[in-house]
Amino acid sequence: MTSVCRLQWHFILIFSAALKGESRYLEVRDAAEDDMFALLKSNLKRDLTEGQIYRRPLRCIDMLSIEGQFTFTAEKPELQCVLFLIGDPEELVTVEYNFVNIDCHGGDFVKVFDGWIIKGEKFPSSLDHLLPTSERYTDFCDTGRTRATVQASQNVAMVFFRIQEPGNGFILTIRKTPNLFPCNVISQTSNGRFTMVIPRQHRNCSFSIIYPVVIKISDLTLGYFSDLQLKKPSPVGCQESGDFVELLGGAGLDPSKMFPLADLCYSFHGPAQMKIGCDNTVVRMVSSGKYINRLTFEYDPFHRPGLENEQGNNVEEVCFPVK
Ligand SMILES: *[C@@H]1O[C@H](CO)[C@@H](O)[C@H](O)[C@H]1NC(C)=O
Repeated sequence: MTSVCRLQWHFILIFSAALKGESRYLEVRDAAEDDMFALLKSNLKRDLTEGQIYRRPLRCIDMLSIEGQFTFTAEKPELQCVLFLIGDPEELVTVEYNFVNIDCHGGDFVKVFDGWIIKGEKFPSSLDHLLPTSERYTDFCDTGRTRATVQASQNVAMVFFRIQEPGNGFILTIRKTPNLFPCNVISQTSNGRFTMVIPRQHRNCSFSIIYPVVIKISDLTLGYFSDLQLKKPSPVGCQESGDFVELLGGAGLDPSKMFPLADLCYSFHGPAQMKIGCDNTVVRMVSSGKYINRLTFEYDPFHRPGLENEQGNNVEEVCFPVK
């Protein structure tokens, strides 16, 4: 089998597994061993190197990181299809229906999910998203005729669809609009730099990197330092304080199900580094709404090494013990 073929095959396995779980809330789960992240990563790479393609047909299982107009036409009954969408961290993804020809009464659907959901794990998690899970699905068959555009709350979204009649299909335009205060983000790359700001809002934000990485935090401000030196009282433990940053590691997508690797609840300047050898790494900020909280960090791929000692003020942790 070619690798593209294998990829499709894996997706088919995932989706037939997902089918068994009936339900109004579709999701991708029970992947046959090989992890979903690997599939997404290979898809990402392919999509990114495809360059400037503004129009193309969609496959039943597909992924897009570029804007454009995309057409799906069923050649046979397609029961479980999904399109993953991703933009840059400071973009919001928008799906616009240009044309939809499906049999809503016969069980067809086209649904947008606000985020990604894989194997029952969603991003953003319920603790980080402003809407309850049921409201994160928008079904064209319920709302499409009145609401032709669905904007996601972050840089990722998904479209689930089922089209049973060959020849039926749809045309979508995918757009990306600037987001001044990106909160929840999945990074498309394994390296980068990001500043997360929560300006006096009672909410939580997670930045997810689906690769093992070295995180370098260069600046953390929790609390608003004015001329009056209004300063947060020092909390006893981070979790008790209403404002803190946590680093999480794990194998799934949902930050609320990942392992806490470190908590930070004091403002500081100057680099603190942590190596996280997990499949997925999340930097998460919890914010009480009383302060302007701000965090700047960089990340680079972490190749699980032989043990090497580094000088300095490093906190070092890995998901799995380094052998
Ligand atoms: C933020 O997350 C914490 C747990 O980490 C949770 O207790 C709190 O309710 C969440 N806040 C919001 C606004 O969802």
